[in-house]
Amino acid sequence: MDVEKVFHMTGGIGSTSYAKNSSLQKKGSDRVKHIIIETVKELYQASTPESLGIADLGCSCGPNTLSTIRDIFEAIQNTSQEIHRPASELRFYLNDLPTNDFNSIFRALPDFLRSLWHDTERGSSPSIFMGAYPGSFYGRLFPNNSLHFVHSSYSLHWLSRVPPELYDEEGKSINKGCISICESSPEEAARAYYKQFGEDFWKFLRSRSEEVVVGGRMVLIFLGRRGAEHVDRGNSFFWEILSRSFAVLVSKGEVEEEKVDSYEVPFYAPSREEIEDGVGREGSFEVERLFTCISDEAAEEAADEGGMSRGKRVAMAVRAIQESIISDHFGDSILESLFHTYATLLDQQIALHPIRPLTFVTVLRKL
Ligand SMILES: C[S@@+](CC[C@H](N)C(=O)[O-])C[C@H]1O[C@@H](n2cnc3c(N)ncnc32)[C@H](O)[C@@H]1O
Repeated sequence: MDVEKVFHMTGGIGSTSYAKNSSLQKKGSDRVKHIIIETVKELYQASTPESLGIADLGCSCGPNTLSTIRDIFEAIQNTSQEIHRPASELRFYLNDLPTNDFNSIFRALPDFLRSLWHDTERGSSPSIFMGAYPGSFYGRLFPNNSLHFVHSSYSLHWLSRVPPELYDEEGKSINKGCISICESSPEEAARAYYKQFGEDFWKFLRSRSEEVVVGGRMVLIFLGRRGAEHVDRGNSFFWEILSRSFAVLVSKGEVEEEKVDSYEVPFYAPSREEIEDGVGREGSFEVERLFTCISDEAAEEAADEGGMSRGKRVAMAVRAIQESIISDHFGDSILESLFHTYATLLDQQIALHPIRPLTFVTVLRKL
């Protein structure tokens, strides 16, 4: 699978779209939005450049990127009032893979900008310029020294490719029965995933090191694991249940076993040590802050979203993310049955053991 060409969140605004099924990511980002605001304020107070370059990497096509733009806009506006300086112009660069539905974002812009200006005196607000930058963030995207602030949420745990070492010389998977790292994965499978993460993270940091000015900041929000152990129920749970859902479809003759055996998800949840080690080895940034945030299961349960069960909500969210790569491998005829089974299994399992995915929030400063 060519991740760069195939992977995209489900576009548009229909019932299975990412736009309608990204509230879990929104809740995660909301829990740490004070970090984004504090970092932007500190950065702005320290340098107040006339023009500020800001990138959202892996912006996708839902409302979440606009919500982040609003937070940054307000942080700059408030800070410029506090320090009695005219607000800088803001250049927002929206990045995602080329098949992302950028048009959905652009269609929402007129209303979004009107609502931004609504409560502010036009003369005192920052001017905004926005553009799409399609391409992989594991390579160069922007001109040298053009960025002051980089934001990325729930994107960096996606690898640039399925690690090639997961397949033997005959092209058969060494990780049969799993679609990611799971309890029964051989040690070599975990090693292959970690190696791919290391290479990707290095390329990510090296590319940004050319693009971010000295003293610029990156706030990177992504899923991770609690310790050295590769299987962390907080995130591996979702893949284990998806794997079991595929097995149900195999038992019903709806999908071939060999097809499932060769399917792997390009996902890796690093540990704190792996992140610190990656930043240290590349050497262009220092870790200013690195902390964890664990989702509040009770609050998730209490949230009433259209009377849907938690399993169904999670299944819709995972479908909006995974649909493109599952369709590429299996065809789209299995989607309804697969995600119906997935939602049912999730509801059964969540009732038995709550899941608490772990998110890392990393603030990096360019040296
Ligand atoms: C789960 S979505 C998160 C979207 C948004 N930031 C949010 O918080 O709702 C992950 C996004 O990362 C993008 N992505 C994954 N790998 C990428 C890469 N190598 N380069 C650019 N974008 C990538 C995906 O296409 C997807 O839109």
